[in-house]
Amino acid sequence: MDKLVIEGGVRLKGEVTVSGAKNAVLPILAATLLTDEPCLIKGVPNLRDTNSMLKILRSLGKIADFDKGKVNVVAGKSSSYVAEYKLVSTMRASFCVLGPLLGRFKKAKVSLPGGCVIGARPVDLHLKGMRALGATIVIDSGYVIARTNKLRGAYIYLGGVYGSSVLATDNVMMAAVLASGKTIIESAACEPEVVDLADFLIKMGAKIKGHGTPVIEIEGVKHLHGAVHSIIPDRIEAGTLILASLITGGDVLVKNVQYQHLGALIDKLSEAGAHLEHHDGTLRVKAGRRLKPVNITTLPYPGFPTDMQAQMMSLMSVTGGISVITEKIYPDRFMHVSELNRMGAHIQREGPYAIVEGVKILSGAPVMASDLRASAGLVLAGLAAQGKTSISRIYHLERGYEFIEEKLINLGAKVWREKE
Ligand code: UD1
Repeated sequence: MDKLVIEGGVRLKGEVTVSGAKNAVLPILAATLLTDEPCLIKGVPNLRDTNSMLKILRSLGKIADFDKGKVNVVAGKSSSYVAEYKLVSTMRASFCVLGPLLGRFKKAKVSLPGGCVIGARPVDLHLKGMRALGATIVIDSGYVIARTNKLRGAYIYLGGVYGSSVLATDNVMMAAVLASGKTIIESAACEPEVVDLADFLIKMGAKIKGHGTPVIEIEGVKHLHGAVHSIIPDRIEAGTLILASLITGGDVLVKNVQYQHLGALIDKLSEAGAHLEHHDGTLRVKAGRRLKPVNITTLPYPGFPTDMQAQMMSLMSVTGGISVITEKIYPDRFMHVSELNRMGAHIQREGPYAIVEGVKILSGAPVMASDLRASAGLVLAGLAAQGKTSISRIYHLERGYEFIEEKLINLGAKVWREKE
């Protein structure tokens, strides 16, 4: 296993380009199961998670080639409707093959993904949606076995205890596109990645309205065809790079940014006193005076994204005051708190709250990454800290950040890998 070593304290400077969105590409690849015709997906980030999804597609009978940001998916000689535990357990997003398999083959056997360090992560909303469309579902030996004679459109209220669910909305939408009649998904997730999936499905011939709002309407069609699609830029990677510039006192031009996808983050950064210049898909982030503390509450889109919470906590660790961070999506997503405190941060966790008292300077330390976004938060802290930080279990970072070391090195950061 590798660890990432960072010699902190370098002001980042230069230009960096954001890659395609991980959370858009994964369900879009799953959606190619809805047709036998060829699909071409462009702007695909080279990530561990992308490769996991390609392995699942191949295990389900697709031929999927990945070359220079493009994925070609065509039908193989035979197909399967079983997504195995050893593949699904590596990545929760693999569970969104359930909807397309059920829509296409009227049966699906998909391993339950299990929990992870950020919380329990149930799939009840996914199953509720499939049942509403007419599937019978049995859980057997860790697998969801779903069957139907015919999927029929239905009214489905898909809100849960923590609000809307991104992958449940994706999954149900993918099952409903081939159902007979009209489906209405109420309390649907509004995330840009859900919109990107809907746009891809529409290119395949699906009839969808209202995507990007809490009410999605789907008129089932008999058949979907192949399509060509380019993935939207990754708003979480963009946000992480913006924070990398701010936390190091840098001056970075972030390219391939969809400004309107970053509303909640940019609003909070402006409140903290950051100066951001937006021009035609680029954002110049020039750090100025020390930032002021701000309070954030994570919420479903367009609220502040939970996937930016750890990174924002690192930034708030070095402001001139106290910030309160409230986690409303995954109340246990605070594994990074103790690691940041090892670097000299002053953070106290109280249930779903973290109280962050800004310090003047963080100091480099050996720390451990617990999950994807926590590792991004630790990288930011390491870039800002005095001295050397080594981050173990850095494979988490590879799940969601394409060429991140190269990108940071190009901006002047002193970052390298060492064997643990
Ligand atoms: C997606 C993102 C992930 C992000 C998360 C929240 C992908 C591949 N992953 O994950 O990066 O952190 O959205 O923005 O897009 N819930 C239930 N029952 C369910 C499903 C979810 O109670 O059946 C709960 C979850 O435990 C959580 C909340 O709903 O508390 C939101 O989770 P959800 O939007 O489903 O997250 P994912 O789609 O898995």
